[in-house]
Amino acid sequence: MGVNHSDSGAWVLVTGAASGIGCDLTTSLLDKGERVVALDYDEEKLTKVYTNHKTSLVCRYLDVCDVDGIARSIEMIRGEVGTIKGLVNCAGIYPVTAFLDITVEEWDQVLNTNLRGAFVLSQAVAQLMVADKVKGSIVNVTSTSATFCRPGVAHYGSSKAGLTQLTRDMALELAPYGIRVNAVAPGVIGTETVVNVAKLQGTEEHAAKLASIPTGRIGEVHEITALIEFLLSNQASYCTGSILLADGGLTLGIPRYQLGN
Ligand SMILES: NC(=O)c1ccc[n+]([C@@H]2O[C@H](COP(=O)([O-])OP(=O)(O)OC[C@H]3O[C@@H](n4cnc5c(N)ncnc54)[C@H](O)[C@@H]3O)[C@@H](O)[C@H]2O)c1
Repeated sequence: MGVNHSDSGAWVLVTGAASGIGCDLTTSLLDKGERVVALDYDEEKLTKVYTNHKTSLVCRYLDVCDVDGIARSIEMIRGEVGTIKGLVNCAGIYPVTAFLDITVEEWDQVLNTNLRGAFVLSQAVAQLMVADKVKGSIVNVTSTSATFCRPGVAHYGSSKAGLTQLTRDMALELAPYGIRVNAVAPGVIGTETVVNVAKLQGTEEHAAKLASIPTGRIGEVHEITALIEFLLSNQASYCTGSILLADGGLTLGIPRYQLGN
């Protein structure tokens, strides 16, 4: 499945590419012959994870919280690689803190990473796409937490709710330029970060988490990557403003409710 664009030499930017969903996506795109700029603020990890894709991969340090840094980086990347046809805003953090204990600093860190970063980067990339007359595709990685409440993620949920609406607003305003903007909303996916949190929480809490998912399992990373690739591709040519939910039924309702109770 090729990524959406007439220019096969153009590049796709992926943030949060050093681990989890962003890393799996970058690897999968490279395996399909795409050219990828892998971005992350964990530079050490970023350079360690990719070894075999010398010509079709560019790895660059980027902190999505650094507004001036984003402007500089995008200008440099543009000079280095040329046309950009796709952007995936995957960088994100998800600390778990009770609402009563969230500090303003933690709130700002979550909102700046998950929402403001995606805004600043998407705007910079969309401006280039418009200038270059590129009918590009932007995909945001939001979350079921945008609409589905659970304790400890008031800041995270707010950031993803904002990102969901930003996706729809961008889709509306960029449609006249032929730029599509969509999002995937994963439920619980077994990335290293999530697995480590599960270990910290202990087996009981993990079992409770599984019991809350109708399909009885957490999702695999490739199950999200496939959806992002679909939204990037021409197969999704009539999709814009879509929020593609992939949560094993988590947000459907109460999974183990006994009839008659
Ligand atoms: N894993 C899940 O269950 C799940 C569920 C719903 C949504 N998501 C979303 O998917 C995305 C990826 O999640 P993941 O589980 O793969 O996480 P992860 O922790 O494995 O990867 C996130 C990456 O983002 C990078 N990053 C964080 N802050 C950054 C910043 N300021 N600048 C640049 N890079 C930064 C990290 O270094 C890391 O490489 C996130 O946006 C997350 O909210 C994940």
